[in-house]
Amino acid sequence: MTRNHRTILVTGGAGFVGSHLSLSLRRDLPDATVIAFDNLRRRGSELALARLAAGGVRFVHGDVRAAADLAEAGAFDLLVDCSAEPSVHAGYEGGAEYLVDTNLMGTARCLEAARRHGADVLFLSTSRVYPIAGLRSLPLDPAGDRLDLAPTATGPGWSHAGVATGFPLDGPRSLYGATKLASELLVHEYGAMYGLRTLVDRCGVLTGPWQMGKVDQGFFVLWAARHLYGGALAYRGFGGDGLQVRDVLHVADLHALVLRQLAALDRHAGCTFNVGGGRGCSISLRELTGACARLTGRTLEIGRIADTAAADVPWYVTDNTAVGSAFDWAPARSVEDTLEEICRWLYDHRTLLEPILGTRGGHL
Ligand SMILES: NC(=O)c1ccc[n+]([C@@H]2O[C@H](COP(=O)([O-])OP(=O)(O)OC[C@H]3O[C@@H](n4cnc5c(N)ncnc54)[C@H](O)[C@@H]3O)[C@@H](O)[C@H]2O)c1
Repeated sequence: MTRNHRTILVTGGAGFVGSHLSLSLRRDLPDATVIAFDNLRRRGSELALARLAAGGVRFVHGDVRAAADLAEAGAFDLLVDCSAEPSVHAGYEGGAEYLVDTNLMGTARCLEAARRHGADVLFLSTSRVYPIAGLRSLPLDPAGDRLDLAPTATGPGWSHAGVATGFPLDGPRSLYGATKLASELLVHEYGAMYGLRTLVDRCGVLTGPWQMGKVDQGFFVLWAARHLYGGALAYRGFGGDGLQVRDVLHVADLHALVLRQLAALDRHAGCTFNVGGGRGCSISLRELTGACARLTGRTLEIGRIADTAAADVPWYVTDNTAVGSAFDWAPARSVEDTLEEICRWLYDHRTLLEPILGTRGGHL
């Protein structure tokens, strides 16, 4: 039950998702102490520190790779694991040491700390656990400004509604996806062996204000930022037409789900869910360009890069059926409302954000 969570440790607590969950959990569970734990590796995470302090969240500067750092954070009875190198493209150019050490070994360190304290564990995983070749083989056709499945198309773990947890897991998925899938296994094994209540959410694209969108992760914010602040954008991959599709979930809708999950952990311990915006909140890059132009009044010339990045997939939409019925939950915000909120945030905080989200960098 939520009321037993007196001390909540959020790793990656200064990151986009971690800082939002830390502040919202502190707000909605006023009796709980919330500790945000982060090594501030992600550029822009340092901007969260003032917001965390103002919201009554304690910040601990530490690294999930170091057991001693986690020990310094003290006892906790809920771990929300949001620390990661979160880019699917990580490791393709150069080594993967940081990625594996943080995303896999860091999870192991966190789980040991959770075991010592008998804590519940909520692990933020990713849709990238699903293999690249499997997702690329979905029978997609152009439909207006996007690729889509036929309404009657269906196969193992997928349908017009999206991808479900039954999607086959055989085949390469990127080292990012592999470290997350391996972490999921560890999370549930710790649950089975040590009696911890564990829950895994495989999230599609998450977004909202305070996401430090980069070329390789956080495209939704980056797209809006480049429209407002200027800079280059390009449709990359799958012919360079911008027809690729993702579903988008506002981080506040994720928080609403997390509250319900914490209240029902007894019933769903050991479970894994796909979580995302779903078909109703899906958008192609080309559609996103149109929406950004309408909201900002600026039209950008979008470049085209025909080559497809090794880990890229043309279409991912979350099938929310299982998580929706387990927790009586559905995303409340439309993709247009989310984009509008992000544009307003970019506009209101331009001085702070332009050095991070502005013209440097290049293509998506
Ligand atoms: N944002 C998305 O679209 C998305 C989608 C699916 C899953 N996820 C998952 O959600 C979680 C949060 O992602 P995010 O978007 O907030 O990313 P983020 O980069 O904004 O946040 C991650 C935080 O972890 C911190 N961190 C990195 N290495 C660390 C280490 N060794 N020790 C301590 N802290 C470390 C970073 O400084 C950063 O603040 C990740 O696990 C990610 O895989 C995110």
